[in-house]
Amino acid sequence: MKFFIDTANLNEIAEAQALGVLDGVTTNPSLMAKEGITGAENILAHYKKICDIVEGDVSAEVIATDFEGMVREGEQLASLHPQIVVKVPLIANGIKACKYFSDKGIKTNVTLVFSPGQALLAAKAGATYVSPFLGRLDDISTDGLHLIAEIRQIYDNYGFETQILSASIRHTMHVIDCAKIGSDVMTGPLSSIMGLLKHPLTDIGLAKFLEDFKKGN
Ligand code: G3P
Repeated sequence: MKFFIDTANLNEIAEAQALGVLDGVTTNPSLMAKEGITGAENILAHYKKICDIVEGDVSAEVIATDFEGMVREGEQLASLHPQIVVKVPLIANGIKACKYFSDKGIKTNVTLVFSPGQALLAAKAGATYVSPFLGRLDDISTDGLHLIAEIRQIYDNYGFETQILSASIRHTMHVIDCAKIGSDVMTGPLSSIMGLLKHPLTDIGLAKFLEDFKKGN
């Protein structure tokens, strides 16, 4: 299972990378705005900085919603760095753009996916990644994990190679449940990765080992 971090914060990306378990980064316009990164040039420069920190795929989202605009923006993003994955929203033009990019060998991430039918369309358009938002479904009393399981079943039925990138992960249990279902990738905040480290028995056990070592020295 690949671990992506869902942020545009360079310090958090560097911290996850330093842990040695980071496989990539996902961003979106909201995450860029949260870091105060505005304006096309600054946003492009920020993507390059992210690519310099991580070794894996970095999703960069188009803003246009018309096909021509998506293609223009996506090609510009893809030319920035070989690690860039062009992120398009799950709308008709996004599916068209996904097909266009996949035919050209440009990696894609189809985002804002909330139903199995949408995920099926993304796979048929040759998406590299599909991003179902499980946390946002949970927010409206709908079972986000069930969606991940449905997409897993559909993709396995037909051998689709599109990777399920479980997004809108909020906490460690989402990560673990996605791993049980067989999600190919998860993307979440740094806390959802670092939280996996925690167990009180680990801390108690380590303290005892160190105490016993000191007694014998
Ligand atoms: O990767 C999608 C993500 O950015 C959405 O997460 O927490 O805003 O629902 P959230």
